[in-house]
Amino acid sequence: MRARSGTSIAISAGRFPRKKRPCARSVPIDASHAFANSTRARMRAWGNTRRPTVPLITWRDADGREISANVASGTNLMRAACDAGVPGIHGDCGGALACATCHVATDPVWAERLGPPGPLEDEMLDMVDGERTPTSRLSCQILASEELEGLILIVPPAVL
Ligand code: FES
Repeated sequence: MRARSGTSIAISAGRFPRKKRPCARSVPIDASHAFANSTRARMRAWGNTRRPTVPLITWRDADGREISANVASGTNLMRAACDAGVPGIHGDCGGALACATCHVATDPVWAERLGPPGPLEDEMLDMVDGERTPTSRLSCQILASEELEGLILIVPPAVL
């Protein structure tokens, strides 16, 4: 077949010309590269170009023993402690601010970063077993986030 402009177009008998596709066999496929690209594309579509974070949180008891765990962002630290098997953190009320069995303390630098407890949490902190400190918090009211990477929570000896 010959087009008007003089260029020739080859058409095999009984077939329509194929559309030129950018994918298929001409492009080498690297599975990990393809996966990474699709993940980035999805994250861009969601308006989120940052990777999901799992900050490392450490619980330290009075004897200096530590348990650390990577905690998914958005998880409350009482739940994370129970999942990690931290002794002394019970979370009897499931995070409903009704038991104070998730009492922890921090050092002053972390306390400043975490901010003060809310009014209900503040009332519950008056009912903790053992001694309330100026940096006491109820861990069910602290949500893991990227900013908490490296946080060390001290489990008071009275609740162990
Ligand atoms: S789990 Fe009950 S107050 Fe935190």
